[in-house]
Amino acid sequence: MSGNPYQDGRGNKDASITNTKGIGTMTPAHRKSGPTTKVDGGPFLIGDTMTGGYGKGPDILHECTIAVNPGEIAVIVGPNGAGKSTAMKAVFGMLDVRSGSVRLDGEDITRLTPQDRVVKGMGFVPQTSNIFTSMTVEENLEMGAFIRRDDIRDTMEQVYDLFPILREKRYQAAGELSGGQRQQVAVGRALMTKPKVLMLDEPTAGVSPIVMDELFDRIIEVSRTGLPILMVEQNAKQALAIADKGYVLVQGRNAFTGTGKELLEDPEVRKSFLGG
Ligand SMILES: Nc1ncnc2c1ncn2[C@@H]1O[C@H](COP(=O)(O)OP(=O)(O)O)[C@@H](O)[C@H]1O
Ligand SMILES: [Mg+2]
Repeated sequence: MSGNPYQDGRGNKDASITNTKGIGTMTPAHRKSGPTTKVDGGPFLIGDTMTGGYGKGPDILHECTIAVNPGEIAVIVGPNGAGKSTAMKAVFGMLDVRSGSVRLDGEDITRLTPQDRVVKGMGFVPQTSNIFTSMTVEENLEMGAFIRRDDIRDTMEQVYDLFPILREKRYQAAGELSGGQRQQVAVGRALMTKPKVLMLDEPTAGVSPIVMDELFDRIIEVSRTGLPILMVEQNAKQALAIADKGYVLVQGRNAFTGTGKELLEDPEVRKSFLGG
């Protein structure tokens, strides 16, 4: 036992790092009483039949749907160039969705800027350039909290509890860290806004299998606080093994959808996308 609650087992009981449960209540924010914008009983976050591409270029996504609910890890897999990152960017508002919609907690946010989506509760860790390399670890976390006007110290402590190595390296330039540690900075930065949903594009890219397992463990811990997690992964087998829901994208379309287990057991998915 390390004495660190985030290190012992997978049961992260401290939900305060996210705001899915509000303060002092176990009720997820999207089910809180009082005024609500929820208009349907659909998923908490959904990019629904999205078609679109970059600028005036051709459509990359073709009626692509990805979604996630509280307490779930939803994983998007598929070959290189399938449009996984594009689908994430579409959900985050970084490209034109020509048809289809994006809804968060029942509210249509299709026309909102990425900044406004952050204010609405989206935390996004892009695949590349996801940290400020010349800034210290702590400055990166402070930057992550840019929309907040309240005291961020508690959240920062929670990020440091989740990723103890970051506390140790808090005054070091983030660019000096290892690949796995940088990814922790990137996830930590996204958590600093206390998001209602976390989107991760290849959080384990370029790290060793051991570091990958560690990152997945931390992601599971965050998910156990109730925070919905939508992530793209190239380590398809390992990711589907921890996924409540999986999407296989091929050429911008949904090729297969199911629970992580169903996809792992599907002979066609195995043969074509999981190396047999
Ligand atoms: N910024 C961009 N501008 C134009 N086309 C892009 C851009 N980013 C990606 N694409 C194209 O979109 C397609 C899907 O890419 P991407 O979403 O990055 O795939 P994946 O993440 O599944 O590997 C590719 O054909 C790629 O060339
Ligand atoms: Mg990608």
